[in-house]
Amino acid sequence: PVLVVDFGAQYAQLIARRVREARVYSEIVPHSMPVAEMLAKNPAAIILSGGPSSVYEPGAPVLDAKLFDNDVPVFGICYGFQAMAQALGGTVAHTGSREYGRTLLSPVSEAGTLLRELPADLPVWMSHGDSVTEAPAGFAVTASSAGAPVAAFEDLVTRRAGVQFHPEVAHTQQGQEMLQRFLYDIAGLEPTWTSSNIIEDQVAAIRAQVGDKQVICGLSGGVDSAVAAALVHKAIGDQLTCIFVDHGLLRAGEAEQVEKDYVAATGIRLKVVEAADQFLGHLAGVTDPEQKRKIIGREFIRTFEAAARELDAERHIEFLVQGTLYPDVVESGGGTGTANIKSHHNVGGLPDDLQFALIEPLRTLFKDEVRALGAELGLPEEMVQRHPFPGPGLAIRIIGAVDRHRLDVLRAADLIAREELTAAGLDRDVWQFPVVLLAEVRSVGVQGDGRTYGHPVVLRPVSSEDAMTADWSRLPYDVIAKISTRITNEVPEVNRVVLDVTSKPPGTIEWE
Ligand code: XMP
Repeated sequence: PVLVVDFGAQYAQLIARRVREARVYSEIVPHSMPVAEMLAKNPAAIILSGGPSSVYEPGAPVLDAKLFDNDVPVFGICYGFQAMAQALGGTVAHTGSREYGRTLLSPVSEAGTLLRELPADLPVWMSHGDSVTEAPAGFAVTASSAGAPVAAFEDLVTRRAGVQFHPEVAHTQQGQEMLQRFLYDIAGLEPTWTSSNIIEDQVAAIRAQVGDKQVICGLSGGVDSAVAAALVHKAIGDQLTCIFVDHGLLRAGEAEQVEKDYVAATGIRLKVVEAADQFLGHLAGVTDPEQKRKIIGREFIRTFEAAARELDAERHIEFLVQGTLYPDVVESGGGTGTANIKSHHNVGGLPDDLQFALIEPLRTLFKDEVRALGAELGLPEEMVQRHPFPGPGLAIRIIGAVDRHRLDVLRAADLIAREELTAAGLDRDVWQFPVVLLAEVRSVGVQGDGRTYGHPVVLRPVSSEDAMTADWSRLPYDVIAKISTRITNEVPEVNRVVLDVTSKPPGTIEWE
């Protein structure tokens, strides 16, 4: 792999993704990892990420110069660039000129390999206090900026290079080209990491792990569990059984999508547990959001567990598939010993006494890579591009008690919003588009000649990177108007449509 050494800023994940976009496999390692351990991973190249703004900052992580005692290609970015310059005998100084944000880069004439043929005055994203004032011996300086006399350097003999700015952020024009020039032209790597190669590798790994044993997987209807199960099925076929708990809180067409389209596309053996009566029975009259979540979580575990035990009696199960993704792994400390932290994420908190070993085929992947894999595996487009949907489903989008009638009303309104978003070609512009039914609020309206006294629904389209923070999506007014007109015309119980214009924070994405 290409190792991205994380010096503590948020840029390491972004760098790792950009490297993968260049079709080269990358992994993030903490800066505290001993050099010997990094080298034991047999890295094709090492990238040093950004971090504190200065190598002189108190507590700034130290770069072990032993890293340079071998011939692995190294690329330093921002803090990594300064740390590299210092370790190799260059000079890093307080020049007094800080640069934050957009800066123009001036490539020095004949700008070497990294910046070859790039235009003068190239906008790049900087964030530094100290500057490299002298490159280490053997390095050619290839660019400067107003605040950074040495903004880029390279040594083609040792295959090391670095830049003061952040090539991984979108604000740096041509940043991806620069990164690729390091990977392909300086480090000599090939763009071979593709969806089909990932599938081949994973299929082999799963076969080796599972042998002839039986495997179970809980499908939530979401992308991650669907792709994980499809991958495992490709590897071991009929040794896999999936369980899908239909709790009656899904959106229009979603249960059918899993039961028909997904099975048709994959040929997976699916055990569907119809549990709507059970869930709605326990939810009757409950209005408190936390109470709703607790009931649904509890019933989910009960139901899945019962189905799993039934299946286990029929064919002894040894493995459970989980759709854990790479960001979960990195955020919970990376690498070893993290299996348990998020291990029950996708099936809604399964108890440990189920005693299955885990298979986590998506552990090294980002969400967009999982989607690409799903497409390559032949899953239906609507399933692969599905927006995130909360485990408790529509129950937390009905403000008030949940019953069948209210669920039907919300499903109808939600379907219209989804149809119009898709028709406008905006599915990929929003992160999620909850529609919320204010079931205990009524307002007066007029329709035809008559007075109505119906319920409002709230449109809550949001844009986000990771759901931790979000902003309300500025959907075109004509799309919103169309949704509003259709909902009030087609759903008799709803006579008013409102738009939620709250960011997160202070609002959460969901209303409950
Ligand atoms: P909030 O409402 O906290 O939601 O801003 C953040 C993201 O998490 C989703 N969400 C859930 N997902 N089980 C889930 O699997 C849950 O209980 C749950 N609650 C919220 C929400 O849809 C958004 O993407």
